[in-house]
Order: sequence, then structure tokens, then C-alpha cells
Amino acid sequence: MSSTPDIVTVVLRTPDRQLDATLRPSLWDEYVGQSHVKNNVQVLLEAAKKRNDMPEHVLFYGPPGVGKTTLAHLVASTLEAPLRNTSGVAIERPGDLAAILTNLEPGSILFIDEIHQLSRKIEELLYPALESGVLDIVLGKGPSARTVELTLPAFMLVGATTRVAQLSGPLRSRFGGGVYQLDFYSDEDLRAIIKRSAKVLGLDAPSTVVEKIASRSRATPRVANALLKRVRDYAEVHEKELTPEVCDAACLLFGIDPLGLTKDDRRYLQTLQDGFKGGPAGVRALASALHEDPDTIENVYEPYLLRLGFIERSSRGRILTDTGRSYLKS
Ligand SMILES: Nc1ncnc2c1ncn2[C@@H]1O[C@H](COP(=O)(O)OP(=O)(O)OP(=O)(O)O)[C@@H](O)[C@H]1O
Ligand SMILES: [Mg+2]
Repeated sequence: MSSTPDIVTVVLRTPDRQLDATLRPSLWDEYVGQSHVKNNVQVLLEAAKKRNDMPEHVLFYGPPGVGKTTLAHLVASTLEAPLRNTSGVAIERPGDLAAILTNLEPGSILFIDEIHQLSRKIEELLYPALESGVLDIVLGKGPSARTVELTLPAFMLVGATTRVAQLSGPLRSRFGGGVYQLDFYSDEDLRAIIKRSAKVLGLDAPSTVVEKIASRSRATPRVANALLKRVRDYAEVHEKELTPEVCDAACLLFGIDPLGLTKDDRRYLQTLQDGFKGGPAGVRALASALHEDPDTIENVYEPYLLRLGFIERSSRGRILTDTGRSYLKS
């Protein structure tokens, strides 16, 4: 039986969209870190604005909660362009794509989240739309079927994915404006994000509390914001000030350790050690032993464990490292 997922897993798997929207930076200056991506995208946008042209399409990839959707919003606001949001799973049939593209306001940003989930058929329909701004639509069936070429309103595609390896080569090559990897955040950047979020939420968070939350946030802004909110709730319920001690007590209750790891992470590491003798273990076998789906294993648990150096991915599967073993002993 799978145990109830802990709060970090929930935050990463089913984000609090309202909290995301409340705390989402609306200015480039508020978007902390990722300077390589920021600088490149800003040049792309400014150059296009000067030419009075649409920028080339861009793709952002990286683990959940690191700021991909936020960047799409910033792109749209910089260009003062309407943002049309959709996702790879939502575009099932050619008609779905045709409806979206033909209804775009000229100069729009089309944001396709989890773009790796587009089917091949949809991808192929998308290529001419991205390259030459046309859509080939087949009218009728059988021998009388004919293809009509529709000219589309000008648009810029912003794609986002947590699974860049699953993106087809041809689709990837259509992002002429760049394919940008978003990294995990440094503690310093997380502290800046938490400070700003505390201000937006009207909280008085001393730097000792900000530091504690930052170091438990799995290098991920969304986790940092969610943790800040949960610690605030805890302090309110116990009618206490936000202090490092209250923060520790709250994290203890949530099962979050000083590295930001939770019981789900420890269960993963323990299973890899005990059930698979430290690996290599295939992701499917691990997922089945943990009663989880492989997607959650790969997207929610593993990115941060890899970053900590607790596991390695090899062609034969996942391996528990010496650092990972030492953590389990501690
Ligand atoms: N660079 C940043 N600076 C400040 N806040 C950030 C930054 N990146 C993300 N955030 C905060 O984290 C929240 C989650 O970010 P966002 O929704 O952009 O992540 P995502 O990469 O799109 O995640 P997912 O893969 O789950 O869609 C945002 O609402 C915002 O408050
Ligand atoms: Mg997103």
C-alpha cells in the first residue's frame, strides 16, 4: 500500500495554482536567478520589439516549480502581448490545434505547457505553423479530400517541459529563439524569493527564518513559497511569532528534514538500498516497489536526489551513491 504523499510531493505534483499566481513575479527584476536565461530572452525580445517583429519561438525546460510558466508570463508582458495558455495533453486532435491557432489574436504568445505530450500527428501539423505561419487542413474524406492552406495570425510559441528528453528532435529544432534549461536555485536566490514572498503575503519573516526555509526548499521556488505559507499557518495556529524554533517545529511536523528531504525521499532511498541492494534499479521496478508511477519518480523524487548526489542514473538504472548511503545511516 502506498502511504499518503507528504506535502512536498503534493506541492510538486499538484501545485497550489492560487499561491503560484499570487506570488508570481510580474517584472523581470523580481524574477530571481537564472541570469543566463533571463539575459538571452531579454535580448531576443528587445531585438524583436525594435524590428517590430515577432520573436522566434522558445522552449524552457527543467524540474517542476523552477519558473518556466513564470517566464512565459514575463515574455507576454514584455511584448505587451496576449497570452494563450494550453498544454500538450489538451491538444488531442488536429481540430483542437486548428481551433487554437486560428483564434489567436495577431501578435499573441501561445504557451504550450508539457509540450512533450503532443502526439506526432499534432507535432507534424504544428511544424508549418511554426516555420511559415500556415496550417494545412484536410477537408472532406476519401478520394474527394483536399488540403487547404490557412494563413495564421503571427504568434510566438513558448513551450515548457519537465521532460525534455521526450521531445522529438524535429520539434526541438523549431525553437529558433533558444532552448533554455532552468537550473535549481542557490540558497541565496531562494532567500531573495522568500523575502519577496513574505512581503507580498504581509509577513514579518526574520532572516533566520528565511534562511531555514531556503535550506529546506529543495532548491525550488515553488517549494520555498509553499513552505513559507505552511510555516506561517503553523505559527498562526499556535499563536506564535515566526521564529527559527517555530520553523523547526513546523518542519518536524511536516516531516521535512534540514536538507528538505521528506519521508517519501527516504522511502525511495531505503527501497533502493534494501530492495535493490543499492542498484542499479530500473525506474519501473522502483516505481512498482514504491507503489508510485514512474513519472512521479522521475520528475518529483529524483531531480533533487540527483542534485544532492545521493543517487546516480546509469544506463542500467538508478544507483545509490556512498553519499546517499551515509545519509541513510545518519
Ligand atoms: N525566478 C523566480 N523568482 C521568483 N519567484 C519564482 C521564480 N521562479 C519561480 N518562482 C515562484 O515559483 C512559483 C512556481 O513557478 P512556475 O509556475 O513558473 O514553475 P514551473 O517551472 O512552470 O513549474 P511546473 O513545471 O510545475 O509547471 C511561481 O508562482 C513563483 O511564485
Ligand atoms: Mg508551469
